[in-house]
Amino acid sequence: MTQRVRVGIAGTGSYVPRRVMTNDDFAKVVDTSDEWITQRTGIKERHFVDEENCSDLAFHAAERALDDAGVRAKDLDLIVVGTITADYLMPTVACLIQDRLGATRAGAFDLQAACTGFLSGLITGESYIAAGRARRVLVVGAETLSRYVDMSDRGTCVLFGDGAGAAVLTELDHCKQGEILETRLGADGSGFDFIYIPVGGAAIPHTSPRYVKEDHFIKVRGREVFRFAVGKMTELIESVTEGVDRDDVALVVPHQVNKRIIDAALERLGWDEERCMVNIHKYGNTSAASVPIAFDEARREGRVRKGQLVVLVAFGAGLTWGATLIRW
Ligand code: ACO
Repeated sequence: MTQRVRVGIAGTGSYVPRRVMTNDDFAKVVDTSDEWITQRTGIKERHFVDEENCSDLAFHAAERALDDAGVRAKDLDLIVVGTITADYLMPTVACLIQDRLGATRAGAFDLQAACTGFLSGLITGESYIAAGRARRVLVVGAETLSRYVDMSDRGTCVLFGDGAGAAVLTELDHCKQGEILETRLGADGSGFDFIYIPVGGAAIPHTSPRYVKEDHFIKVRGREVFRFAVGKMTELIESVTEGVDRDDVALVVPHQVNKRIIDAALERLGWDEERCMVNIHKYGNTSAASVPIAFDEARREGRVRKGQLVVLVAFGAGLTWGATLIRW
C-alpha cells in the first residue's frame, strides 16, 4: 500500500458583500427587535448581496486564499465548492470560478452538505492529496442565503447572511503549516426536514402544479435544530480530539449558527469562551461559508499560532456534520 501524503492548509481567504443588514433594518419589516435577536441568537448584523451571485463571492474568497498561499490558479489540480445556493441548478459554482480564476488544469465540482459544505470539501480535498491524486486543491464555502429567506417570517429571516471563505490545500512538505491530523464526517437523513427548502428541486419544480412560492424559502424547525446542534457540536469536538490532550487545543472554530448553541456546547465541554472563535454578531449564519470565514478571521487576528491545535466543526441540513483537527 502507498503511504498517505501529509496535507497542510497553505492559505485562507474570505469575502462578504458590502451591504450590511442590521437588526434594526429587520425591525422595520417584521415584528422583531435588536434586543430579541441579540439575546436569542447573538447576531447584530449580516451582509446581503445586491447584484452579486454566489460565484462572485466564491471567486473573491478564492483569489484571497490563493494569494495567501502563494499558489497560482493555473497550478490547481482540483476545485471543490460547498454551497446550497449555487448561481444555477447547473453548471456548478466550481466551474464558474475555475474559468474566472484561470485554473486551466483543475477538475471542479460543487458538493451539497449545507452548513457542513466547507468541511466536507476540506476532507474531500485532503483525501485527494493524501492519496496522491492531487497536489493543490482549492476548497470554498460560499452562500447567498438571502435569496432564500422569507422576509416576512421573523423566525428565520434574521438568522442568515451571505459570504464566502476559502482554503488552499497542498502537500505539507510544500506549505509546512496547518496539517490536517484528524477528520470526521457524518449524516442522518431522517432529519431531512429539520432545515429544508421544499420546492424548486426536481421533486417539485417551478413548473409543477404543487409549486407554492412560499415553499421556496428556508424552513427551519428551530428548537429541534438547537438540540441537535448542541449535542453534535459537543460530540464532534470530543471525538476529533480523542487522540490528543484536550488542554492543548488552543482554538475551536465552530459553525456560527447561534451564540447560545456555541455557549451551551462549550459549557458541556467545560471550555471557556477564549478558546472559541465567534463572529456571528457580524455575519449571522452563512451556512457553508461560516467556518472558513471565521477561520480566516481568526488567523488574521493572530489567534492561530504555529504549532497550536485547532478544531473546525460544523453541522447542518441533511442532517450533516463534520470536524477536523489541525496542527497549525
Ligand atoms: N423576533 C421576535 N420574536 C421572535 C422572533 C424574532 N425574530 N423569532 C421568533 N420569535 C418568537 C416566536 O414567534 C415565539 O413567540 P410565541 O412564544 O409568541 O410563539 C418566541 O419568539 C419563541 O420562539 P422560539 O422559536 O421558541 O425561539 P427560540 O428561543 O427557540 O429561538 C431560534 C429561535 C433562534 C431559531 C433558535 O431556535 C435557534 O437558534 N435554533 C437553531 C438555529 C437554526 O435553526 N438555524 C437555522 C439554520 S440551521 C444550521 O445552520 C445548523
